[in-house]
Amino acid sequence: MPLSIDFTNMMAGPLPNGRGITEEQWTAGAERFRVAFDRVQVQHVAGTLGFIDLPTNDALIAETLTVARRFGGRVDDVLLLGIGGSALGPIALRSALRPPHWNELDAAARQGYPRLHVLDNVDPATIAATLARLALARTLVIVISKSGGTVETMAQYLIVRDALEASVGEEAAKSQMVFVTDPEVGALRAIARAEGITTLDIPSNVGGRFSVLTAVGMLPAALIGVDVRALLGGAAECAARCNTGELASNPAGVFAVLQWLADTKHGAHIHTLMPYADGLREIASWFVQLWAESLGKIRPDGTSVGPTPLPAVGATDQHAQVQLFMEGPLDKTVCFIAVDGKAAQGKIPSRHSDRPELAYLGGQTLGQLLDIERQATAGALAARGRLNFTIEVPTVDARTVGALLYLFELATAYAGELYEVNAFDQPGVELGKQFAYAMLGRPGSDEARREWDLLPRPNPRYRV
Ligand code: PA5
Repeated sequence: MPLSIDFTNMMAGPLPNGRGITEEQWTAGAERFRVAFDRVQVQHVAGTLGFIDLPTNDALIAETLTVARRFGGRVDDVLLLGIGGSALGPIALRSALRPPHWNELDAAARQGYPRLHVLDNVDPATIAATLARLALARTLVIVISKSGGTVETMAQYLIVRDALEASVGEEAAKSQMVFVTDPEVGALRAIARAEGITTLDIPSNVGGRFSVLTAVGMLPAALIGVDVRALLGGAAECAARCNTGELASNPAGVFAVLQWLADTKHGAHIHTLMPYADGLREIASWFVQLWAESLGKIRPDGTSVGPTPLPAVGATDQHAQVQLFMEGPLDKTVCFIAVDGKAAQGKIPSRHSDRPELAYLGGQTLGQLLDIERQATAGALAARGRLNFTIEVPTVDARTVGALLYLFELATAYAGELYEVNAFDQPGVELGKQFAYAMLGRPGSDEARREWDLLPRPNPRYRV
């Protein structure tokens, strides 16, 4: 498998000041992990954890590629409508696996593949500006929603479909849309059936934030030229390597247990993910949703649990957040992602030999600089007893990205068992949704309206 995890700087032996996970805690963690692993296996066998099988679901990827091929060469832009798990994965894949500034490159530099725009919000300024830039006659619109009725995505859809019809007419508009949604339920599925709109399934046992390896991520990725079979191959390699309850041999288990022990035994409630590669920046944002929405929960015994994920990127955040990581509260882990293969890239010219602040850089590479800075930051944190560990990948390509995504998803499932929460629901977002429905007048929200009306109103005493 194209990744490994070095967790020396999490352990009590190497770390100073009595910090770090002790051998006893690690041994007990390995026992707890075996139970967590077995529980995940039981749910998998029961058919509730569909994400586990996605890397080897040949039928699903074949359908996706058939649809992608149908639009190949026919569109200049792909406009993706979605939010949360229906948007973050596609954004992460575009950033990681296409050259920087993809949407600004001309068609030749994009080798004829389309640009990919993701509307992951309902800010009217962004939507108007995006629509104003697109030639809708050469645009494919992908509407993604597992539930098929998420308010933000439905609002985006209503606006974009109107604009598309105004531009190309009713019938052509239908042929320029693809829906990605649950096979049975939801408004999108019903509209697709009624109007004959091409639709790809998100298997019913795959939840939104675990769906990047379905058509949610694979369709937009294939359309912009990502080798999605290599990506699924990397995920499959990770799955095979993680198919063991032996903690020492299961990298996803190691990630989950390290974070859980750091949180519950060492007060490290904040889990930073800090890749040293711009291309992986959005994977950190994708991970934030996965870790936060899966693990921030009320347990059956009434206690609230859940680590807070924090995205960062090296070296940029050395000049923003690392001061806090070094000297702020001892409440964080930092998980670095190191990319080995950048060392030869970006030769720095020799100039200003009389200026010692610059002269030493001549002849080195940007890749070396980035990696040396990562090692220095990890070492500095360790020297001050700050918990950190490093996921190492040889390069940023489809195979390693597939492995990383799968590693984080599986680690999240294990962590749900360790924290004793259901990692696959999100009941905490319901009340806010219901209040919004009540204010928007959606039928069936009378009870929420009553609760909303009883809430305290803004008090002028508390306004400046
Ligand atoms: O993980 C989840 O289920 C959520 O974060 C969803 O991804 C998000 O709410 C969007 O939902 P949907 O895909 O149903 O529109």
